[in-house]
Amino acid sequence: MSTIFVTASGTEIGKTFVTCALIHQLRGHGYSIRALKPVATGVTDDAQDLTDSGILLKALGHPIDSERVAAVSPWQFREPLSPDMAAEREDRHIPFDDLVAFCCEETEEDVTLIEGIGGVMVPLDRQHTVLDWIAALSVPALLVTGSYLGTLSHTLTAVGMLRAQNVKLAGIIVNESETQPVDPGETADVLARFVADVPVRIVGRLDTPERTPDLLPLLEPFLSRAAGPAP
Ligand SMILES: Nc1ncnc2c1ncn2[C@@H]1O[C@H](COP(=O)(O)OP(=O)(O)OP(=O)(O)O)[C@@H](O)[C@H]1O
Ligand SMILES: [Mg+2]
Repeated sequence: MSTIFVTASGTEIGKTFVTCALIHQLRGHGYSIRALKPVATGVTDDAQDLTDSGILLKALGHPIDSERVAAVSPWQFREPLSPDMAAEREDRHIPFDDLVAFCCEETEEDVTLIEGIGGVMVPLDRQHTVLDWIAALSVPALLVTGSYLGTLSHTLTAVGMLRAQNVKLAGIIVNESETQPVDPGETADVLARFVADVPVRIVGRLDTPERTPDLLPLLEPFLSRAAGPAP
Protein backbone atom coordinates (compact mmCIF):
# COMPACT_ATOMS: atom_id res chain seq x y z
CA MET A 1 0.00 0.00 0.00
CA SER A 2 1.21 3.54 -0.80
CA THR A 3 0.13 6.67 1.01
CA ILE A 4 0.25 10.27 -0.23
CA PHE A 5 -0.60 13.27 1.93
CA VAL A 6 -2.25 16.17 0.09
CA THR A 7 -1.45 19.40 1.87
CA ALA A 8 -1.51 23.06 0.87
CA SER A 9 -0.10 26.49 1.48
CA GLY A 10 -3.45 27.49 3.01
CA THR A 11 -7.15 26.81 3.20
CA GLU A 12 -9.50 26.74 0.16
CA ILE A 13 -6.53 26.36 -2.19
CA GLY A 14 -7.70 23.20 -3.95
CA LYS A 15 -6.73 20.12 -1.86
CA THR A 16 -10.11 18.44 -2.36
CA PHE A 17 -10.20 19.35 -6.05
CA VAL A 18 -6.72 17.89 -6.62
CA THR A 19 -7.47 14.81 -4.46
CA CYS A 20 -10.56 14.12 -6.60
CA ALA A 21 -8.43 14.49 -9.73
CA LEU A 22 -5.95 11.96 -8.31
CA ILE A 23 -8.77 9.56 -7.39
CA HIS A 24 -10.11 9.77 -10.94
CA GLN A 25 -6.69 9.27 -12.54
CA LEU A 26 -5.58 6.47 -10.21
CA ARG A 27 -8.88 4.61 -10.64
CA GLY A 28 -8.53 5.02 -14.39
CA HIS A 29 -5.25 3.10 -14.18
CA GLY A 30 -6.73 0.30 -12.10
CA TYR A 31 -5.63 1.34 -8.63
CA SER A 32 -8.01 0.90 -5.72
CA ILE A 33 -8.15 3.93 -3.44
CA ARG A 34 -8.84 4.77 0.18
CA ALA A 35 -9.39 8.53 0.48
CA LEU A 36 -9.46 10.20 3.89
CA LYS A 37 -10.20 13.63 5.26
CA PRO A 38 -9.50 12.66 8.86
CA VAL A 39 -10.02 16.09 10.39
CA ALA A 40 -12.75 18.42 9.12
CA THR A 41 -14.13 21.66 10.57
CA GLY A 42 -17.18 23.69 9.63
CA VAL A 43 -19.21 20.49 9.28
CA THR A 44 -22.93 20.74 10.02
CA ASP A 45 -25.60 18.08 9.69
CA ASP A 46 -27.04 19.30 6.39
CA ALA A 47 -25.65 18.92 2.86
CA GLN A 48 -23.24 16.05 3.55
CA ASP A 49 -22.61 15.77 -0.18
CA LEU A 50 -21.00 19.24 -0.13
CA THR A 51 -18.51 18.41 2.64
CA ASP A 52 -15.00 17.27 1.75
CA SER A 53 -15.77 13.73 2.90
CA GLY A 54 -18.94 13.70 0.77
CA ILE A 55 -17.04 15.00 -2.26
CA LEU A 56 -14.31 12.37 -1.78
CA LEU A 57 -16.87 9.56 -1.36
CA LYS A 58 -18.60 10.65 -4.56
CA ALA A 59 -15.27 10.68 -6.43
CA LEU A 60 -14.65 7.14 -5.14
CA GLY A 61 -18.05 6.09 -6.49
CA HIS A 62 -19.40 5.33 -2.99
CA PRO A 63 -22.77 6.37 -1.61
CA ILE A 64 -22.68 9.21 0.92
CA ASP A 65 -24.09 7.97 4.23
CA SER A 66 -23.27 8.75 7.84
CA GLU A 67 -21.31 5.54 8.38
CA ARG A 68 -19.08 6.13 5.37
CA VAL A 69 -18.62 9.81 6.20
CA ALA A 70 -17.51 8.86 9.73
CA ALA A 71 -15.03 6.34 8.28
CA VAL A 72 -13.51 9.03 6.02
CA SER A 73 -13.64 11.84 8.61
CA PRO A 74 -13.60 10.52 12.18
CA TRP A 75 -12.83 13.95 13.67
CA GLN A 76 -15.47 16.43 12.54
CA PHE A 77 -16.27 19.74 14.19
CA ARG A 78 -19.00 22.30 13.68
CA GLU A 79 -17.15 25.62 13.82
CA PRO A 80 -15.35 26.71 10.63
CA LEU A 81 -12.10 27.33 12.50
CA SER A 82 -8.67 25.75 12.82
CA PRO A 83 -8.98 22.22 14.31
CA ASP A 84 -7.55 23.19 17.71
CA MET A 85 -10.04 26.04 18.10
CA ALA A 86 -13.00 24.15 16.63
CA ALA A 87 -12.35 21.19 18.95
CA GLU A 88 -12.00 23.39 22.03
CA ARG A 89 -15.39 25.01 21.26
CA GLU A 90 -16.88 21.52 21.75
CA ASP A 91 -14.73 20.61 24.77
CA ARG A 92 -13.02 18.01 22.65
CA HIS A 93 -9.52 17.50 21.34
CA ILE A 94 -7.92 15.48 18.56
CA PRO A 95 -5.84 12.64 20.04
CA PHE A 96 -2.70 12.97 17.93
CA ASP A 97 -1.52 9.36 18.32
CA ASP A 98 -4.97 8.05 17.38
CA LEU A 99 -5.02 10.32 14.33
CA VAL A 100 -1.67 8.96 13.18
CA ALA A 101 -2.71 5.36 13.89
CA PHE A 102 -5.97 5.84 11.95
CA CYS A 103 -4.03 7.03 8.87
CA CYS A 104 -1.67 4.03 9.10
CA GLU A 105 -4.39 1.39 9.36
CA GLU A 106 -3.74 -1.59 7.11
CA THR A 107 -6.14 -1.66 4.18
CA GLU A 108 -6.49 -3.72 1.07
CA GLU A 109 -6.57 -0.66 -1.21
CA ASP A 110 -3.49 0.07 -3.34
CA VAL A 111 -3.29 3.76 -2.49
CA THR A 112 -4.35 5.85 0.51
CA LEU A 113 -4.85 9.55 -0.21
CA ILE A 114 -5.01 11.73 2.89
CA GLU A 115 -6.34 15.26 2.55
CA GLY A 116 -4.94 17.42 5.32
CA ILE A 117 -6.70 20.47 6.67
CA GLY A 118 -5.90 24.08 5.88
CA GLY A 119 -2.19 24.69 5.31
CA VAL A 120 1.01 23.03 6.49
CA MET A 121 1.25 24.91 9.80
CA VAL A 122 -2.36 24.73 10.96
CA PRO A 123 -2.55 23.66 14.62
CA LEU A 124 -4.35 20.41 15.38
CA ASP A 125 -4.17 20.85 19.13
CA ARG A 126 -2.05 22.80 21.61
CA GLN A 127 1.20 21.07 20.55
CA HIS A 128 0.85 19.62 17.07
CA THR A 129 0.46 21.06 13.58
CA VAL A 130 -0.42 19.45 10.27
CA LEU A 131 3.33 19.35 9.60
CA ASP A 132 3.85 17.19 12.71
CA TRP A 133 1.10 14.90 11.43
CA ILE A 134 2.75 14.47 8.00
CA ALA A 135 6.18 13.94 9.60
CA ALA A 136 4.80 11.34 12.04
CA LEU A 137 3.33 9.40 9.11
CA SER A 138 6.64 9.46 7.17
CA VAL A 139 4.78 9.65 3.87
CA PRO A 140 5.39 11.83 0.81
CA ALA A 141 3.40 15.03 0.48
CA LEU A 142 1.88 16.77 -2.51
CA LEU A 143 1.76 20.53 -1.96
CA VAL A 144 -1.18 22.38 -3.53
CA THR A 145 -0.72 26.12 -3.92
CA GLY A 146 -2.46 28.92 -5.76
CA SER A 147 -1.43 31.49 -8.37
CA TYR A 148 -2.73 34.51 -6.40
CA LEU A 149 -0.54 37.46 -5.47
CA GLY A 150 1.50 36.28 -2.48
CA THR A 151 1.65 32.62 -3.39
CA LEU A 152 5.40 32.57 -4.02
CA SER A 153 6.27 33.40 -0.43
CA HIS A 154 3.48 31.20 1.00
CA THR A 155 4.59 28.26 -1.15
CA LEU A 156 8.32 28.58 -0.50
CA THR A 157 7.66 28.98 3.23
CA ALA A 158 5.59 25.78 3.20
CA VAL A 159 8.32 23.97 1.23
CA GLY A 160 10.94 25.14 3.73
CA MET A 161 8.91 23.87 6.68
CA LEU A 162 8.27 20.50 5.02
CA ARG A 163 11.95 20.10 4.19
CA ALA A 164 13.01 21.02 7.70
CA GLN A 165 11.05 17.95 8.87
CA ASN A 166 12.51 15.80 6.06
CA VAL A 167 9.12 15.34 4.40
CA LYS A 168 9.52 14.04 0.85
CA LEU A 169 7.77 16.29 -1.67
CA ALA A 170 6.11 14.39 -4.52
CA GLY A 171 5.35 17.65 -6.29
CA ILE A 172 3.92 21.13 -6.17
CA ILE A 173 0.60 21.80 -7.90
CA VAL A 174 -0.02 25.43 -8.84
CA ASN A 175 -3.81 25.34 -8.84
CA GLU A 176 -5.00 28.42 -10.69
CA SER A 177 -6.60 30.95 -8.33
CA GLU A 178 -9.74 32.90 -9.21
CA THR A 179 -7.68 36.08 -9.55
CA GLN A 180 -3.99 36.23 -10.29
CA PRO A 181 -1.50 38.90 -11.34
CA VAL A 182 0.33 36.77 -13.94
CA ASP A 183 -0.15 33.60 -15.92
CA PRO A 184 0.19 30.53 -13.60
CA GLY A 185 2.99 29.32 -15.88
CA GLU A 186 5.12 32.25 -14.78
CA THR A 187 4.44 31.44 -11.11
CA ALA A 188 5.33 27.79 -11.75
CA ASP A 189 8.60 28.79 -13.47
CA VAL A 190 9.67 30.93 -10.52
CA LEU A 191 8.84 28.15 -8.05
CA ALA A 192 10.74 25.62 -10.15
CA ARG A 193 13.84 27.84 -10.01
CA PHE A 194 13.77 27.87 -6.21
CA VAL A 195 12.72 24.24 -5.76
CA ALA A 196 14.63 22.67 -8.61
CA ASP A 197 14.42 19.06 -7.41
CA VAL A 198 10.61 18.97 -7.05
CA PRO A 199 8.30 18.69 -10.07
CA VAL A 200 5.89 21.62 -10.45
CA ARG A 201 2.61 21.18 -12.35
CA ILE A 202 -0.18 23.61 -13.21
CA VAL A 203 -3.90 22.93 -12.89
CA GLY A 204 -6.08 25.53 -14.59
CA ARG A 205 -9.58 26.65 -13.56
CA LEU A 206 -11.68 23.71 -14.72
CA ASP A 207 -15.32 22.78 -14.52
CA THR A 208 -14.55 19.34 -13.02
CA PRO A 209 -11.48 17.62 -11.51
CA GLU A 210 -11.84 14.88 -14.14
CA ARG A 211 -10.42 17.31 -16.70
CA THR A 212 -7.19 17.89 -14.75
CA PRO A 213 -4.00 17.13 -16.71
CA ASP A 214 -2.17 13.90 -15.87
CA LEU A 215 -0.72 14.16 -12.34
CA LEU A 216 0.19 10.49 -11.94
CA PRO A 217 3.85 10.94 -12.95
CA LEU A 218 4.24 12.88 -9.69
CA LEU A 219 2.97 9.92 -7.67
CA GLU A 220 4.59 7.11 -9.64
CA PRO A 221 7.91 7.10 -7.71
CA PHE A 222 5.90 6.46 -4.54
CA LEU A 223 3.44 3.86 -5.81
CA SER A 224 4.21 0.28 -4.83
CA ARG A 225 3.07 -1.13 -8.16
CA ALA A 226 3.19 0.21 -11.70
CA ALA A 227 0.12 1.78 -13.28
CA GLY A 228 -2.22 -0.44 -15.24
CA PRO A 229 -3.25 0.42 -18.79
CA ALA A 230 -4.71 3.87 -19.44
CA PRO A 231 -8.52 3.95 -19.71
N1 LIG B 1 -8.74 24.11 -10.57
C1 LIG B 1 -9.96 24.48 -10.16
N2 LIG B 1 -10.90 24.85 -11.06
C2 LIG B 1 -12.13 25.23 -10.66
N3 LIG B 1 -12.53 25.28 -9.38
C3 LIG B 1 -11.64 24.92 -8.45
C4 LIG B 1 -10.32 24.51 -8.78
N4 LIG B 1 -9.66 24.22 -7.64
C5 LIG B 1 -10.53 24.45 -6.65
N5 LIG B 1 -11.71 24.86 -7.11
C6 LIG B 1 -12.90 25.21 -6.32
O1 LIG B 1 -12.45 26.10 -5.30
C7 LIG B 1 -13.06 25.79 -4.05
C8 LIG B 1 -11.96 25.43 -3.03
O2 LIG B 1 -11.28 24.27 -3.48
P1 LIG B 1 -11.10 23.00 -2.53
O3 LIG B 1 -12.38 22.72 -1.79
O4 LIG B 1 -10.54 21.90 -3.34
O5 LIG B 1 -10.01 23.61 -1.52
P2 LIG B 1 -9.42 22.93 -0.22
O6 LIG B 1 -7.98 23.28 -0.15
O7 LIG B 1 -9.76 21.48 -0.22
O8 LIG B 1 -10.23 23.70 0.92
P3 LIG B 1 -10.33 23.30 2.49
O9 LIG B 1 -9.16 23.97 3.14
O10 LIG B 1 -11.67 23.89 2.88
O11 LIG B 1 -10.32 21.80 2.58
C9 LIG B 1 -14.03 24.65 -4.32
O12 LIG B 1 -15.30 25.18 -4.59
C10 LIG B 1 -13.46 23.99 -5.59
O13 LIG B 1 -14.42 23.32 -6.37
MG1 LIG C 1 -10.84 20.42 1.17
